[in-house]
Amino acid sequence: MIEEIQEPTETGPRVWAIGGGKGGVGKSVVAANLALAVARTGARVALVDADLGGANLHTLIGIPSPKRNLSDFIARRVASLNEILAPTPFDNLWLVSGAKALLETANPSFGQKTKILRHLASLDVDHIFLDLGAGTSFNVLDFFLAARRGVLVVVPEATSVENAYFFIKAAYFRKLKRAQPRARVKAAVDEVMRGDARQRVRTPRDLMAQVMAVDAEAGAALMEEASTFSPSIIVNRIERSEQTRLGDEMGSACRDYFGINLRCLGNLPYDALVRRSVDERRPAVDLFPQSSFARAVRGAAGTVVGQPVEAVG
Ligand SMILES: Nc1ncnc2c1ncn2[C@@H]1O[C@H](COP(=O)(O)OP(=O)(O)O)[C@@H](O)[C@H]1O
Ligand SMILES: [Mg+2]
Repeated sequence: MIEEIQEPTETGPRVWAIGGGKGGVGKSVVAANLALAVARTGARVALVDADLGGANLHTLIGIPSPKRNLSDFIARRVASLNEILAPTPFDNLWLVSGAKALLETANPSFGQKTKILRHLASLDVDHIFLDLGAGTSFNVLDFFLAARRGVLVVVPEATSVENAYFFIKAAYFRKLKRAQPRARVKAAVDEVMRGDARQRVRTPRDLMAQVMAVDAEAGAALMEEASTFSPSIIVNRIERSEQTRLGDEMGSACRDYFGINLRCLGNLPYDALVRRSVDERRPAVDLFPQSSFARAVRGAAGTVVGQPVEAVG
């Protein structure tokens, strides 16, 4: 399974960005529990709180807000990147506060965002989980795209699903727009977007087909770029068994409508123990390792690390 998502030439930590969707769907809870489950496989994990709307990952894992953060590193107030890794009560798991760094850079350019990610990627860990928070601002989209492994958390509710499609579409157009370094591709896209054809460009798939008609070579280049866009989703707060189909259904819809690959990384049940674990400031994976939620998170962690994950405790 891991071959699907790991590029052979890739070095350094694998960066997973958890974003999109509405507030309250469980992004932070999922990020904290998934990160801990992965850390318990023996992999070293940094959990990065990059939610501009409200950084609260530290509470979910039961530590005070880290004193040092990514801003201190970027501004060279700390000598080494390791100083911004705040220890947690758990082996192999560190917390990095990143929201401030993102806030301090007013309207960061794509280049600056890439730089922030590059700094993160030089952390001496195996996996990085970024909690991006809600919304479809360019900041969220760019980090989602730059992280390479974008994960959307969705709940089985019409509004959440609608939001997720909107997010995917916005991220995809953003990616295609940024992926036009070649003058010829840019010219072909511009021609399509300018002409009468514009009315018919509703989906990325339309855009691709039309660019192909205008300039086959440019179309092929665009298509190749598009094929690297394969976000994942995690369906959270599942209450009925038929809702476990949502992930696959969204996958087919994305394939048909957008022509992209969307894979489902996990189906997580609604579990009252999650709320209790939040109140106790300890991830459910640690406090209630046998809960249905913790089991399902370990399933998703298995997909992340490419091997089954056993319960601890
Ligand atoms: N699988 C679940 N089962 C039950 N409650 C959940 C589940 N996932 C999340 N919650 C509840 O939803 C609340 C909001 O989750 P949170 O991760 O803070 O959302 P987000 O980061 O998307 O805004 C949590 O405090 C928890 O009580
Ligand atoms: Mg959150």
